[in-house]
Amino acid sequence: MKASAVADANIALVKYWGKRNKKLMLPHNSSISMTTDGLSTLTTVEFDKKYKEDIFILNGNKFKKGSEEYDEYIGVFLNFVREFSKINLKVKIVSQNNFPSTAGLASSAAGFAALATAINKSLNLGLSQTELSILARRGSGSATRSIFGGFVEWKKGEREDGSDSFAEQIVPSGYWPEFKMIIGITSKKEKKIKSRAGMAQTVKTSPYYKVWLESVNEDLKKVKEGILERNFPLVAKTAEENCLKMHALMMTARPSVIYWNKGTIEIIHSVLNWKGEGLETYFTIDAGPQVKILCLEKDIDGVRKRLRDIENLKDIIITKPGRGVRIAEKHLF
Ligand code: PMV
Repeated sequence: MKASAVADANIALVKYWGKRNKKLMLPHNSSISMTTDGLSTLTTVEFDKKYKEDIFILNGNKFKKGSEEYDEYIGVFLNFVREFSKINLKVKIVSQNNFPSTAGLASSAAGFAALATAINKSLNLGLSQTELSILARRGSGSATRSIFGGFVEWKKGEREDGSDSFAEQIVPSGYWPEFKMIIGITSKKEKKIKSRAGMAQTVKTSPYYKVWLESVNEDLKKVKEGILERNFPLVAKTAEENCLKMHALMMTARPSVIYWNKGTIEIIHSVLNWKGEGLETYFTIDAGPQVKILCLEKDIDGVRKRLRDIENLKDIIITKPGRGVRIAEKHLF
């Protein structure tokens, strides 16, 4: 049966950067994110004996067996799905993002959350939200969190088999609609170092990795408490500090992993300056050059006005806490 699902990207406020088990995608630490509103992926799947091989089309580009994108990402995931569901049919997958892919905007999170959900419907697997979160994790770590809306925690879990490593909603999207994220796009190019390779290199070589793991629990505690109390400075300041710690790890990996460009640095300095001008603004940055500015509704106009003076800014996207994954009636083929 043909089935479609829509999922939105999520942006981490306490980051995941490193796996303790690469095959099962188990993280070294728990993480917390906000699911965005409107940075969406729509995915349609159909398993059928009419397909002689798997077909995967992302944003109009066909990826074949033998390409890195196919073999290391979709191929591994589909093999797992077939093993787990005991269904041996080939599949056609068509997926469309409404935002730039692989440039640090968590496209894989939205992509695998939508794919897992569409597969669940298409194969009638009857998976719960928790099981979907575990399935999405096998495609991309951060996808674990995009199953849920609002603010979400991915619990790292303790078990070897990953059965306790899944996401849980902290609060739904309607709990804190004044929380805004302005994404400053500084480049639309694909990033050179995929997060999977970047994190493996960091875990292996950064002398600060142990220190990161020792400090991350405190960040999780503060961000979670801040979300529940709607304490903006507590959430946003901790998120900014956590992001800078993660980038310090990347920079001290050998060879170093640097995702920033001049626009990234220009926005960082601007956000820091705006604090002195009375705006409550903070930032977070993922595995890419885009800067996500965190602010409350009251400061949106002030930020937008000031963003006009940023030279190396290509585009902006304004978002807020959004919904979890859902089934779509519209099919892409
Ligand atoms: O799940 P991946 O492989 O897309 O890695 C995500 C890594 C970060 O976005 C930098 C952090 C996070 O927790 O989302």
